[in-house]
Amino acid sequence: MTERRVHVTGWGRYVPSQVLSNADLERMVDTSDEWIVSRTGIRERRVAAADETTASMAAVAALRAIRTAGIDPDEIDLILLATLTPDYWMPSTAALVKEAIGNTRAAAMDVAAACSGFVYAYASAQAWIAAGLAKHVLVIGAELLSRFLDYTDRGTCILFGDGAGAVVLSASDEPGGSLAVELTTEPQGAYMIWLPAGGAKSPPSSETIARGEHYIRMEGRETYRFATKTMATTALESVRKSGLDPSEVALFIPHQANVRIIEAVAKGLQLPMDRMYTNVDRYGNTSAASVPIALAEAVNEGRVQVGDNVTLVAFGAGFTSGAVTVNWTADPARGRDVDALVDRRDVRVRLPVDWDSVDPIPPALAELMARPGSLDVPLDDVVPGEPEPASHAPAR
Ligand code: ACO
Repeated sequence: MTERRVHVTGWGRYVPSQVLSNADLERMVDTSDEWIVSRTGIRERRVAAADETTASMAAVAALRAIRTAGIDPDEIDLILLATLTPDYWMPSTAALVKEAIGNTRAAAMDVAAACSGFVYAYASAQAWIAAGLAKHVLVIGAELLSRFLDYTDRGTCILFGDGAGAVVLSASDEPGGSLAVELTTEPQGAYMIWLPAGGAKSPPSSETIARGEHYIRMEGRETYRFATKTMATTALESVRKSGLDPSEVALFIPHQANVRIIEAVAKGLQLPMDRMYTNVDRYGNTSAASVPIALAEAVNEGRVQVGDNVTLVAFGAGFTSGAVTVNWTADPARGRDVDALVDRRDVRVRLPVDWDSVDPIPPALAELMARPGSLDVPLDDVVPGEPEPASHAPAR
C-alpha cells in the first residue's frame, strides 16, 4: 500500500437562521447578558427550525463542502458524521445524509466523541485515505443541541447552539496537507458531561423523563479545568509531531466552547489571541460542528492562506480531546460564494413512512420560533407523508 498525502479540498458550513440571544435567555432563566458574555464570550446562538434535523443541516454543509471541492457527490467514497445529537439511534445520521446529497457509492457511519467528534472523524478519514482505502472522504460535524437542553438549567442552556460544518479530504501526491494527529480519551471525566437516559443502561421511560434525564448534564467547573489543561497540551503535541513550533502555526481553530478557554489555550502556547480563531460569540458551543464551522468561516474570511500551517483542536465529553495540524493547500477563494449556490430548501432528507412525528421544538423555545420574522414552518411539514418518487425528489 502506498502512503498518500491527505489534503482538505472542500469546506462548508450551515447554521439555522433563527437567533437565540442572551436577552431571550434572560426571559427563560435567572441569568444576564453581562454574566453570559463575561463568563463565556457568547452573545447569541442559532436554533434549528421545526423542519430541520441533524441530517438536514449536515447535508447542506456537506453539499457546500463538495461544491467547494469541485467534485461530484458520487465521488465521495466514505462519509463520517460526528454528532452527539443523531436524528435516531438507528439508522446512522450519515446514512440519511448520503441519500440527501445524492451519493450512491459511499460507506457511511457516525462517529461519537462529543465535541471532539469532528477531529476524531477527520483523523479516521486521514487514516482511510493514507491506507489507500478511499480517495475522497466527506467529514461532517453536525449538532441539533437545542432539542437536548433543559431550558430551566442556566448552567447548560446558555452555552449550546445548533449548526453543521463539513470538509472534503482528498488523496493527493502533492506536498502539504494533513500532518500529525493527537487524540486522547480520559474516562475519569465520563460523568462530567453526559446525557443519562435513553441508552441501554437507563432506557427511556416516563420516570427518566420526569427526572429530566434526557437532557445534557454538565459539571461546568470540572469541565473547564480539563479543557484549559488539555486543549493546549493536545494542540502542542500535534504541532510537535508535525515537526513544527507553535510559532510556525498561522492559525489555531479551537473548539468554540468558551472564549476564556480559548484565551487559556493561547496563553498555554505563549501566542497572542489573534492566532486563535473565534466565533463563539455568534454561535455558542455547537459541539462537533464547532471546529468545521469555524474552519470554513476562517478560510472564507481570508484568515488562512496557501502554505499556512493550521491546527484544529477540540475537547469534549468522555473526556476526549483531539488535534490535527494541516499545511493548507487549497485556494481560499473557492468556498466564498458557495452558500448562495446550495440553499437549504433545495436539500431534502427522506422521512419515514407510517410514522407520526411530534412537534420537535422545545416548549421553552416555542414563543421565540413563532415570532414574526422567524421561519414559519407548519407542523404538517415535519409529519411524514408519502415518500417522493426516488428518482426525482422535487426541491422545496
Ligand atoms: N447565569 C448567571 N449565573 C450563573 C449561570 C448563568 N447562566 N450559570 C451559573 N451561574 C452561577 C452559579 O450558580 C454560581 O453561583 P454561586 O457562586 O452562587 O454558586 C456562579 O454563577 C459561578 O458559577 P461557576 O460554575 O463557577 O461559573 P464559571 O465561571 O465556572 O462558568 C461555565 C461556568 C461558563 C459553565 C464554565 O464553567 C465553563 O465554560 N465550563 C466548560 C463548559 C464546556 O465547555 N462544556 C462543553 C463541553 S464540550 C462537550 O462535549 C459537550
